[in-house]
Amino acid sequence: MELCFKFTTPTILLLFLLSCFFFPSTEAYDALDPNGNITIKWDIISWAPDGYVAVVTMFNFQQYRHIQAPGWTLGWTWAKKEVIWSMMGGQATEQGDCSKYKTGNPHCCKKDPTIVDLLPGTPYNQQIANCCKGGVINSWGQDPTNAASSFQLSVGGSGTTNKTVKLPRNFTLKAPGPGYTCGPAKIVKPTKYVSSDGRRVTQAMMTWNITCTYSQFLAQKTPSCCVSLSSFYNDTIVPCPTCTCGCQNNITQPGSCVDPDSPYLASVVSQQGKTNSFAPLVQCTSHMCPIRVHWHVKQNYKDYWRVKVTITNFNYRMNYTLWNLVVQHPNFDNLTQIFSFNYKPLNPYQDINDTAMLWGVKYYNDFLMQAGPLGNAQSELLFRKDKSTFTFEKGWAFPRRIYFNGDNCVMPPPEAYPFLPSATIRQNVSFINLLITLLAIIFACS
Ligand SMILES: *[C@@H]1O[C@H](CO)[C@@H](O)[C@H](O)[C@H]1NC(C)=O
Ligand SMILES: *[C@@H]1O[C@H](CO)[C@@H](O)[C@H](O)[C@H]1NC(C)=O
Ligand SMILES: *[C@@H]1O[C@H](CO)[C@@H](O)[C@H](O)[C@H]1NC(C)=O
Ligand SMILES: *[C@@H]1O[C@H](CO)[C@@H](O)[C@H](O)[C@H]1NC(C)=O
Ligand SMILES: *[C@@H]1O[C@H](CO)[C@@H](O)[C@H](O)[C@H]1NC(C)=O
Ligand SMILES: *[C@@H]1O[C@H](CO)[C@@H](O)[C@H](O)[C@H]1NC(C)=O
Ligand SMILES: *[C@@H]1O[C@H](CO)[C@@H](O)[C@H](O)[C@H]1NC(C)=O
Ligand SMILES: *[C@@H]1O[C@H](CO)[C@@H](O)[C@H](O)[C@H]1NC(C)=O
Ligand SMILES: *[C@@H]1O[C@H](CO)[C@@H](O)[C@H](O)[C@H]1NC(C)=O
Ligand SMILES: *[C@@H]1O[C@H](CO)[C@@H](O)[C@H](O)[C@H]1NC(C)=O
Repeated sequence: MELCFKFTTPTILLLFLLSCFFFPSTEAYDALDPNGNITIKWDIISWAPDGYVAVVTMFNFQQYRHIQAPGWTLGWTWAKKEVIWSMMGGQATEQGDCSKYKTGNPHCCKKDPTIVDLLPGTPYNQQIANCCKGGVINSWGQDPTNAASSFQLSVGGSGTTNKTVKLPRNFTLKAPGPGYTCGPAKIVKPTKYVSSDGRRVTQAMMTWNITCTYSQFLAQKTPSCCVSLSSFYNDTIVPCPTCTCGCQNNITQPGSCVDPDSPYLASVVSQQGKTNSFAPLVQCTSHMCPIRVHWHVKQNYKDYWRVKVTITNFNYRMNYTLWNLVVQHPNFDNLTQIFSFNYKPLNPYQDINDTAMLWGVKYYNDFLMQAGPLGNAQSELLFRKDKSTFTFEKGWAFPRRIYFNGDNCVMPPPEAYPFLPSATIRQNVSFINLLITLLAIIFACS
């Protein structure tokens, strides 16, 4: 006997509540990148008269979450009375109180220093390898050659043996806002360095690692991206859910968004840009999101079907560099062609190939311009139909999940999806479909 359920709003709501209740969000778990983390490696490369010289490298092992301008900020608390004598490839934001040092003028005397990267164009004698990119780090999935950032520091007052050095504590990573949680430093096998001719291997005096993981929940309370849908077979354009990222409220919060037709647009944008520049300044829309991703089912051929994806930036205060999109759809295992975006399959679970990472082509559309006529990027995807699964019914042609820059984009409710004119209004959903929906909801809650 076939097990069938009616796919109604109350059912979905009930499932959602149940699933969120039974599967509380595990802090920093991302189903599409289960091992994603930023690992900080601290290598003591030599001992100094009163301490050591170390190279600290951050590796962004995340598949699709990069660190964009204005870049990372790394902090920690010294375990003893350490001092930073000098730095290369990075700098402490504050020197602190160095009055007890009669000679030498240390770089930073704070108990809890805060380090930032140097800017591009730093003089060569202050650079080291992998530094000076203004704190921007690409993701491992997008560009592993640019997924690390390093700085060097000379530390005093730490002791000069691997027994007397105490590991710094309470690492904090801002990238640039909140979202990351760092674990404790752990001593690992000393890093080995192979000389450029490959004929000699040297090693660090001592090495420790710190692992930091991301949680969207910590990063922000409200979503920052939403999805709208349309299709060639139905005139309805399903917009982003109203108030996804905020509500327009002219009475209590005048000026919370910007009318694109306002003659004062330029002055509002430049004036507000000078105040607090992290908060987005969005164009007035019903969803109030900085980013909208539109998925249009464009054409149907005998053996193929075609989708057009458009990313629109509604934020007047942000140019998104190195942006990326992660899309989950069962037909990605038969993606045949993609235009003007880069593509890479993500296979967190080896055998399931339904998730794609898409990003812009360098110098062409890898720079998603601030809100306005240029604030969008588009691509078309051509999929080969797998006859056993392909259908335009029940919203199958729409994505299951979309992330922009690693943050979940809110989808319209399933019952609002445009449907085939021939389909009956009441739809039965098989047990398998229900299971998939349930799983999707569980992941959405985590
Ligand atoms: C961090 O990511 C790397 C690369 O994916 C992985 O090998 C390592 O196990 C991860 N570390 C933790 C603590 O999850
Ligand atoms: C310290 O150095 C000694 C001798 O080189 C080594 O045996 C020991 O494992 C090191 N300890 C740590 C914590 O690295
Ligand atoms: C590290 O942070 C925890 C919690 O924020 C705090 O209780 C602890 O005192 C801090 N440790 C140091 C060495 O600052
Ligand atoms: C420490 O970090 C380095 C660089 O990310 C990595 O290669 C190494 O496997 C890590 N060691 C442990 C024990 O996690
Ligand atoms: C806010 O003002 C805009 C333009 O003046 C108007 O279109 C919109 O309906 C107003 N919204 C509310 C909630 O009053
Ligand atoms: C975005 O880039 C354009 C062109 O480089 C520049 O004019 C504009 O000021 C930038 N906007 C922001 C918010 O950085
Ligand atoms: C996933 O599908 C794409 C597109 O068909 C293909 O290029 C890629 O090799 C597949 N990856 C795996 C691991 O099967
Ligand atoms: C779609 O991809 C799967 C897995 O890669 C493969 O087994 C199947 O034959 C493909 N279907 C078509 C129609 O190409
Ligand atoms: C298109 O889909 C909507 C649901 O989003 C439905 O209300 C409408 O009747 C459909 N149009 C046609 C012509 O079937
Ligand atoms: C839904 O399933 C029931 C029982 O299996 C069946 O009688 C009914 O025709 C189905 N309705 C639709 C719209 O498929």
